[in-house]
Amino acid sequence: MVSFARNNVTQIKVDHMPNSELETYIQNQRRNWNSVAAAWERWDQWLHKTMLVYDELLVDRSGVKKGGRVLDLGSGTGYPAIRAAQVTGPDGEVVGLDIAEKMLDVARRKADSLGLGHITFQRCDVGSLPFDDASFDSVTSRFCLMFLPDPATTLREISRVISPGGGFASSVWGAPEKNPSFTASAGVLKEFSDAPPPDPKAPGMFRMGQPGELAAMLEQSGFTNVREEEVTVQWCFASSDEYISNLKEMAAPFKVMLDKLSAEDLARAEEKIKHALRRFEGDDGRINLDATSLVVSGVKGHA
Ligand SMILES: C[S@@+](CC[C@H](N)C(=O)[O-])C[C@H]1O[C@@H](n2cnc3c(N)ncnc32)[C@H](O)[C@@H]1O
Repeated sequence: MVSFARNNVTQIKVDHMPNSELETYIQNQRRNWNSVAAAWERWDQWLHKTMLVYDELLVDRSGVKKGGRVLDLGSGTGYPAIRAAQVTGPDGEVVGLDIAEKMLDVARRKADSLGLGHITFQRCDVGSLPFDDASFDSVTSRFCLMFLPDPATTLREISRVISPGGGFASSVWGAPEKNPSFTASAGVLKEFSDAPPPDPKAPGMFRMGQPGELAAMLEQSGFTNVREEEVTVQWCFASSDEYISNLKEMAAPFKVMLDKLSAEDLARAEEKIKHALRRFEGDDGRINLDATSLVVSGVKGHA
């Protein structure tokens, strides 16, 4: 068994976000992701089908094998931890971490229904990792790193807990212009907010969207054979109404903005989003949008 040798209390050191702000930031992340957990369970089939390619890539690029020990950071409702557990089989062990307990409850239900007794989900802020050095053969993380206030510290922690020769792979959203899946509505929502434009270096969806950025961070954290792959999938919706439901219910960063709007502004914003979606509408009324990410992987160098 992988042992929790350190206590499970998060200790985060950052030099750019004061502790008081950091605590608030982490609490908000937890609350925001917990608030969408039920929707993620409802939309699970859509999510599974649309994003399966990322599970397959992350499990492959991090070298998950039968009998392997795998750590997944920011597992949410179980992606890609559950896929990793299917590959390791019962002789392996998978640990999934996330700050949002309600997301993990969904992941646990899914793992139980699949009979995966060798996977555990733990509530934990991945700012520090409560494991001994070299506890895992592979570490994965799907669409979590860009939300961390101090990803460099987490990458050093990942490097510490992987055995020499083990693999790490993560997906992060690519550049905004390659993600109309989000930007079609983000552009509209800007009009309804008097907040200043987000700092591109602050934690957020596109924080690591520039090619080479995360790859350089991996190299600085002791990874070799670093590889970056751009992967685009299509997000397909039966109608613009279905796209808006998905956005309002599942996309935590957007839900926060939408929840602040008055009923009148929300109705106006929805009309404008529908208008913006027209150029992505097929003759059948379906909406097809690109969602592009960077999959970055590397091998932990030998000491
Ligand atoms: C976009 S979701 C991705 C979930 C899952 N990996 C997937 O691809 O479906 C981001 C996840 O990161 C988690 N998260 C954000 N900040 C975190 C932190 N500091 N520590 C642990 N998990 C965090 C959120 O709670 C959320 O479940």
